[in-house]
Order: sequence, then C-alpha cells, then structure tokens
Amino acid sequence: MPSVVAPPVAGSVSRDDGLAAWDRAWQVMSHPRCANCHVGDDHRPMWSGPDYPRTTPHGMNISAGDSRMGIETLPCATCHITASTLESDPRQAPNAMVDWHLPPVEMAWFGLTSGQVCRQLRDPAMNGGRDWVQIAEHLQEDASHGGFVAWGFAPGGGREPAPFGLQAHIDDVLRWGAAEQPCPE
Ligand code: HEC
Ligand code: HEC
Repeated sequence: MPSVVAPPVAGSVSRDDGLAAWDRAWQVMSHPRCANCHVGDDHRPMWSGPDYPRTTPHGMNISAGDSRMGIETLPCATCHITASTLESDPRQAPNAMVDWHLPPVEMAWFGLTSGQVCRQLRDPAMNGGRDWVQIAEHLQEDASHGGFVAWGFAPGGGREPAPFGLQAHIDDVLRWGAAEQPCPE
C-alpha cells in the first residue's frame, strides 16, 4: 500500500530538486491514463490505447456535461460499470466506491503546459482546497480503494500505464511541495 509517511519538512528540498520532482510528476499527470479524464470545459474525455495510436476525443460523441458524469445525456456508468472481474477494459475499471466520471473543470490538465498545471495545482481555489501534503494524501487515499489513480498506474489490457509507479509519484509530489512548489515558466 502506498503511503505518505513522514513527508519532508517544508524548505528541506532545494528549488532545483523540487523542479526535477515536478518534471517527473508532470510526466505522470500528462500521461494519457491520467490526462484523458482531466479534460476541460468541453466535457469530452479522450481516448487512446493500443487500438488508437493518436489521442482522440471519446468515441460515440460522449459528453460528460456540466455534471461531469454524463447525467444530461448518457451516464458514464452506463458503460463504465464498476463491479466486474474484467479489469483489462477501461469500461470495467475497478472502482468500488465511485462511478467513473470526470474531475471538476478547474482540475483540467489536458492540452495545458507543465507550468500552467503546476500553478493551478498550488492554487487552493483551483485544486479542491488542498495543500501539497493533502494532494499526496489524495493520491494515497484513492489508491487505498482502487480508484482512478490506481487504475492509471495499472490499467491492464495492453494499455501503457502512467510511468514510475504510484509510490514514486507520491514521493515526487511531496518533494515538489517541500521545495515550496516551484513551477517552470
Ligand atoms: C456507450 C458506452 C460508453 C459511455 C457512455 C462512456 N464510455 Fe468511456 N469508454 C467506452 C469504451 C468502449 C472505451 C474504451 C475505448 C478503448 O478501447 O480505448 C472507453 C474509454 C474511456 C476512456 C479512456 C481510457 C484510457 O485508456 O485512456 C476514458 C477517459 C473514458 N472512457 C471516460 C468516459 C467518461 C468520463 C464517460 C462519461 C461522460 C464515458 N467514458 C462514457 C465506452 C463508453
Ligand atoms: C476516470 C477519470 C480519472 C482518471 C483516469 C484519473 N483521474 Fe484524477 N481525478 C478524477 C476526479 C473525478 C477527481 C476529483 C476528485 C476530488 O477532487 O475529490 C480527480 C482529482 C485528481 C487530483 C486532485 C487534483 C487537485 O487539483 O487537487 C489529482 C492529483 C489526481 N486526480 C491525479 C490523477 C493521476 C496522477 C491520474 C493518473 C495516474 C489520474 N488522476 C487519473 C478523475 C480521474
């Protein structure tokens, strides 16, 4: 189980090391297994995978709508069923607690630059009111119930997982935070 044990003390990590940690974290966050859900206000999740060499908008004209769950048209959970043993298919990503849906618009990453998302993530008005330790705890919490983040690191079905692994990602977020959240231009 990944953990947020003894996060480094604020100020104990150099700016350069913090920027390097952010760069690795961004490689995770901008990876299709994460960014395909973290999309903006056109409400369209993205598709990519073994059968789709390029990332394209979700097929079948799917829109998540303002609800971010497709309630206005076709709920995501119609297809992305949560209780299944066929874990290799994103339609059946295991998530016992929450139905498959998009994050709030202000947490969009898709199509943004590393610097833009970095600044967004240190702004409490944009990040669900979380400080850096709470962001790391959110990642850990999600994984503890096999949620979306856990799926992104172990998607199965020949899909490329997000890089480095969850514990390394949590450690990078903490290192970036302890360096006082430096951001590239
Ligand atoms: C009509 C069925 C259907 C509905 C409704 C649906 N999806 Fe999908 N979704 C699929 C299928 C099938 C795939 C797998 C495509 C593939 O093979 O890559 C998929 C893949 C995805 C992926 C890509 C995962 C990856 O590998 O990167 C995301 C993200 C996604 N859906 C989000 C959503 C969201 C959010 C909603 C609701 C707004 C939704 N889907 C509604 C059928 C559906
Ligand atoms: C199925 C869609 C989906 C996928 C795939 C997904 N997320 Fe998310 N993510 C969400 C939702 C929904 C939220 C909002 C939850 C909340 O704020 O409590 C969220 C919120 C977050 C947050 C908090 C953002 C903030 O600004 O505070 C982080 C960090 C995060 N996700 C990381 C990831 C990472 C890393 C991956 C890939 C390994 C990933 N997510 C894949 C749906 C997804």
